[in-house]
Amino acid sequence: MQTHPNRRDMLALLAAAGGAASLPGLAFASEGADPVYQAFEAASRHDPWTLGFTDAPATGLDGVPQRLHGRLPDGLAGTLYRNGPARFSRDEWRYRHWFDGDGMVHAWHLAPGEPVTHRARFVETPKWRDEEAAGRFLMPTFGSQPPNTRGMRGPDDMNAANTSVMVLDGQLMALWEGGSAWQLDAQTLASQGPRNWGDGLEGLPFSAHPKVDPDGTVWNFGQAPAQEALVIWQLGRDGSLRRAELVGDIPGGMIHDFAVTDRSLVFLVGNLRWAGPQLPYLDSFRWDDSRAMQVIAIDKSDWLQRRVWELPPGFLFHVGGAWEDADGTIHVDAALSDDARMATIGARDVMLGRPSPESEGGSRMHMITLYPGGRFERAAFNDGGAEFPQVDPRYTGLARRFTWHVGWSDGQVRGASQLVERNLLSGATRRFDFGTDVVVEEPLFIPRDRAAEEGDGWLVHTALNKQARASELHIFEARRLEDGPVASWRLPYACPLGFHGCWQAA
Ligand SMILES: [Fe+2]
Repeated sequence: MQTHPNRRDMLALLAAAGGAASLPGLAFASEGADPVYQAFEAASRHDPWTLGFTDAPATGLDGVPQRLHGRLPDGLAGTLYRNGPARFSRDEWRYRHWFDGDGMVHAWHLAPGEPVTHRARFVETPKWRDEEAAGRFLMPTFGSQPPNTRGMRGPDDMNAANTSVMVLDGQLMALWEGGSAWQLDAQTLASQGPRNWGDGLEGLPFSAHPKVDPDGTVWNFGQAPAQEALVIWQLGRDGSLRRAELVGDIPGGMIHDFAVTDRSLVFLVGNLRWAGPQLPYLDSFRWDDSRAMQVIAIDKSDWLQRRVWELPPGFLFHVGGAWEDADGTIHVDAALSDDARMATIGARDVMLGRPSPESEGGSRMHMITLYPGGRFERAAFNDGGAEFPQVDPRYTGLARRFTWHVGWSDGQVRGASQLVERNLLSGATRRFDFGTDVVVEEPLFIPRDRAAEEGDGWLVHTALNKQARASELHIFEARRLEDGPVASWRLPYACPLGFHGCWQAA
């Protein structure tokens, strides 16, 4: 049965059984040196790859990158904001999972005739401030249980604010997926506090992959796996709340991203499923491939109306995008893997400084076609690993040709790292291969101007150059991707690898 409880019921429901909420502290002594901390320290002495998982300075980073070649293209001016985990250890105790690190928001400022600048600041949540003052970790996190943690009143007590960023009506926000969006000053990156979207909605989960319709309407969701439900958010382009409701009858999967069409909200529910509250929170989920991967399309105009498809088991973090034909057929592309071992094992192993085969990532781009009546087609592009898919933002929810993503051969961690453009209609790709010295991070597509056709613009991305022990910024002409970056800059320092970003035009 689907229910629409009022807001106060909704918050009470989530607080009562949210898995992470209202849990007592756990007191156990840490016996001797932390083996994870020690393993990483040892690896970091000889392997520059570990720079991607090394603590950033608590006071932040400010730098002017050296221009390696090229110049800022005419017409490209603005700020690339990015977010990612950047603090992994305190008091010689290290987090067990990559996704636990406290969020650091970066701003790369690009202006004609001026040097490119970089600034990064930690998101100063109460968790960050209390732990910074205490000199040790105080809270359980997504994948770790530090010694002697405090009790929790709600998910924001463990909000790492480390996954993505968005700018809505001029307000910069750091996004996580278990709790509130965190407001920051767009210039200084100073933290301002949690965003409250409306009375009774404080602290409700607001995931890290909101989608913006061509008319500016913002859609998002929040996971409530213990309730087999989702919070659905609809916001105006000015950030005002239009509607937020709990929608039930959603399998308790770990849902990280979704897609929109002009008519539907599309959720792919993978087979890492809720199995009861545990700490750390990740242990609340178990792999269950005895059931289908469910795809649920919720009608944007009536959230009680849905269509469901049952696909073979699998897992995903990210979708590219979706569109819908007049007859209701939905097309969606996603980076699917056969299992969730990257999330449950691989992202733990990188914390040791010793990536395992599970750390290398098994995701490949897939094109999924969902026909009326439950029939579907699911086609894999078997041309290498793929993650961090992005689309031309003007085509969100609309028929389109292109997805851009990070690609790799021989593994995400140790293999050659590529920037890839995929034509969804032909399946063809164009690539630029950075080789094994560079780890490419999420590319954003920036259209040349409002009237430019799809794919006419720039790709902007950051990267960790292991050889140079430094982070870089690269700009590509999207239509000449295989020619390599038209301009590149290198910071005098390395930043931890991040997750997602957004572009704010000047
Ligand atoms: Fe993500």
